[in-house]
Amino acid sequence: MAQYPQRVFSGVQPTGNLHLGNYLGAITRFVSLQETHECIYCVVDLHAITVPQNPADLARNIREVTAAFIACGVDPERHIVFNQSQVAEHAELAWVFNCVARMGWLNRMTQFKEKAGRDRENASVGLYAYPTLMAADILVYRATHVPVGDDQKQHLELARDIAQKFNNDFSASIAERGHGDEFFPLPEPLIQGPATRVMSLRDGSKKMSKSDPSDYSRINLMDSAETIAQKVRKAKTDPDALPSEVDGLSGRSEADNLVGIYAALSGGGKPDVLREYGGRNFSEFKNALVELAVQKLGPIGAEMRRLNSDPSYIDQVLRNGSSRARVIAAENMTAVRDILGFVR
Ligand code: TYM
Repeated sequence: MAQYPQRVFSGVQPTGNLHLGNYLGAITRFVSLQETHECIYCVVDLHAITVPQNPADLARNIREVTAAFIACGVDPERHIVFNQSQVAEHAELAWVFNCVARMGWLNRMTQFKEKAGRDRENASVGLYAYPTLMAADILVYRATHVPVGDDQKQHLELARDIAQKFNNDFSASIAERGHGDEFFPLPEPLIQGPATRVMSLRDGSKKMSKSDPSDYSRINLMDSAETIAQKVRKAKTDPDALPSEVDGLSGRSEADNLVGIYAALSGGGKPDVLREYGGRNFSEFKNALVELAVQKLGPIGAEMRRLNSDPSYIDQVLRNGSSRARVIAAENMTAVRDILGFVR
């Protein structure tokens, strides 16, 4: 197997309401990986338009996700932060992958089934082809590691399948052009930590989501301290005290979720949280969770508000990141065109 330099890529959709799940499942990982890897973080605006968007809201949300990355500690000087639509190679490679991926593979994607719902005939073609664009995002940089929440696992498996099929289908051409026996790495998902699937605060069987109609189901990164306190206090729980062992959380999805959130925010694991809070009731635990959440999220929200008031700085970050991303993407895309046999 070929050796690729390690490179991290991940993306977040600019669809509003960035929440604690995005933060704990993905963005905190983005921050820590900066110490060990070359990282590329993308605001995936082409993915956002797979469902209808109001142009003014879309522009605001693109800037807001960028502000969130920076406020959480992503460094746009040392690493690359940009928005997808400024690097045309994403869409170009996605088309190639539309011709590599099989209908049967896409038909298995659970996220499409959930998002399209019963009215599948009326879903956009883009929503169906969403995962091939996601594979292109990663592979146009030949990225090797992809930090994501648990809900993206199936899409990552598809990206690996696409990379593998491309490598197999074009193996002779890849070798002839001096790329060895394969062109794309098989990107590895990094799904790590105690909060890879943060659940709704109203219903422990549903994941926390930007699109849940109830704002009480999630903690948004820009919520005020009072709002965070209200949402945590209203979070659904059960009548029992907290268990002392992780096993005691099974079958108690709401308790498990709050303990996972506390663990992730405090940088520990669930056993550490239960060692401290086992046997205590929820009102006591929720007070501690409010305090911790406000302490961690308060400064992020404040920094996001500050950055949001300076859109020209954000736009400059995105332009700068896009031009650096484009250099890598253009080189790989030229190689792909040659491998395919396109004449230039
Ligand atoms: P998106 O915008 O829905 O979510 C951004 C990131 O947040 C994670 N996440 C969660 N993690 C834990 N608990 C939750 N409740 C929760 N909700 C969301 C997601 O797993 C994701 O990591 N398809 C992607 C965006 C994308 C992408 C990519 C990601 C496009 N191209 C290439 C990686 C690589 C998405 O819709 O994420």
